[in-house]
Amino acid sequence: MKMEWTEKTWIVATCGRGCAEVLKGELRALGYEPQDVSATSVGVEGTLRDAMRLNLWLRTANRVLFEVGGFEIDSADDLYAAVRELPWEQWLRPDAPFHVHGVAQHPSIRDPRFAVLRCKDAIADRFVDRTGARPDSTSTPDGASCVALYWKDQSAQLFIDTSGAPLSHRGYRWRAWVAPLRETLAASILLEAGWGRNGAEAFIGPMCGSGTLAIEAAWIVQNRAPGLDREDYAFLRLNGVDAAAWQALKAEARAKFVAAPRTWIAASDVDAQAIACARENAERAGVDRLIRFHTCDFRDTPLPKPPALVLMNPEYGERMGAEERLVALYESIGTYFKDKCQGLRALVFTGNLPLSRKISLHPVRRVAMWNGDIECRLLEYDIYEGTRDARLIRKHGGAGSPPQ
Ligand SMILES: C[S@@+](CC[C@H](N)C(=O)[O-])C[C@H]1O[C@@H](n2cnc3c(N)ncnc32)[C@H](O)[C@@H]1O
Repeated sequence: MKMEWTEKTWIVATCGRGCAEVLKGELRALGYEPQDVSATSVGVEGTLRDAMRLNLWLRTANRVLFEVGGFEIDSADDLYAAVRELPWEQWLRPDAPFHVHGVAQHPSIRDPRFAVLRCKDAIADRFVDRTGARPDSTSTPDGASCVALYWKDQSAQLFIDTSGAPLSHRGYRWRAWVAPLRETLAASILLEAGWGRNGAEAFIGPMCGSGTLAIEAAWIVQNRAPGLDREDYAFLRLNGVDAAAWQALKAEARAKFVAAPRTWIAASDVDAQAIACARENAERAGVDRLIRFHTCDFRDTPLPKPPALVLMNPEYGERMGAEERLVALYESIGTYFKDKCQGLRALVFTGNLPLSRKISLHPVRRVAMWNGDIECRLLEYDIYEGTRDARLIRKHGGAGSPPQ
């Protein structure tokens, strides 16, 4: 099978567990119709130019995969034979090393690395057959042409991984404070929270750590394509890639960028080193002038008038911090919401559900999202003003209803 870059094929955008719905929303907003959704991916149809566009614009995807082959197979030997039939020498440049990654779930395969190895052999052998030269393979996607295998039962798909290094590597976070959120997860949380839908809404990010949520919030209101300044994409190393089309997509994205939106964004942390780190990251992301930074306890973060969204990601206790200290912290978050955040939308992202109950307010929305292997919840609280608020506090101010 010969595949032209201008031909439409299946494009699969991968994401973290719990983020497929927001990814679907992003794809729709970009004009694509999601047709195949799994817990960690969404599929659309498109050409290589579409794959480039998705690399540039998707905030919540980890990778953009471009399908080049699909087959029914029943063993690693079948896989080798099918992969060797594909014209890799026409797609991949001989001067760049290639990297293969993937998943394999088949009774004949005990270790998916074996399936990946067979793919590598098949690609290298195909090159030798057709060109007389064996390309180097590499264990990292950096600087490589990338191929992804997805093999489940009898069905295998081969993709060109057009992203290479994960799209969470935006390029602004050289320095991370403790337990930073991946950039793509931070963007997923914000979009799930509806950030950016109400142009008048302000953003306050207490407990900001490395500043990821505030920076991603700023990029969303700037309508900044998250891949605009990232230099390395694996598709740039494909044979015959349309470099002019890529430049045109970037020019279009620059034209849509709003340098100075009139949005109130603030971030704070009790630790001065965290704020220094967040400020540095924001400078690199070009949004340091849009974010007001404060070194203070979260309860002292200056708040604007409504409408505003307060979003915090307190420690979970799994990766850092001691549980007893965190009980008091979570209790104080509930008190802070009740006392200071009336009329605002208040959200917490946490991987510790028992601790989240200490907030002692009833969440109006709970969304399950995974931070790596940790099952987390995005919890939203409506903190009403006046009598409704008093009623809410009376009703839920004690033990509270347990989040599910
Ligand atoms: C899990 S980290 C946040 C990580 C952040 N979302 C990121 O992407 O880098 C929690 C942060 O809460 C801060 N923190 C802990 N107790 C605090 C308090 N009482 N007031 C303000 N910040 C606090 C810690 O210094 C830490 O930076």
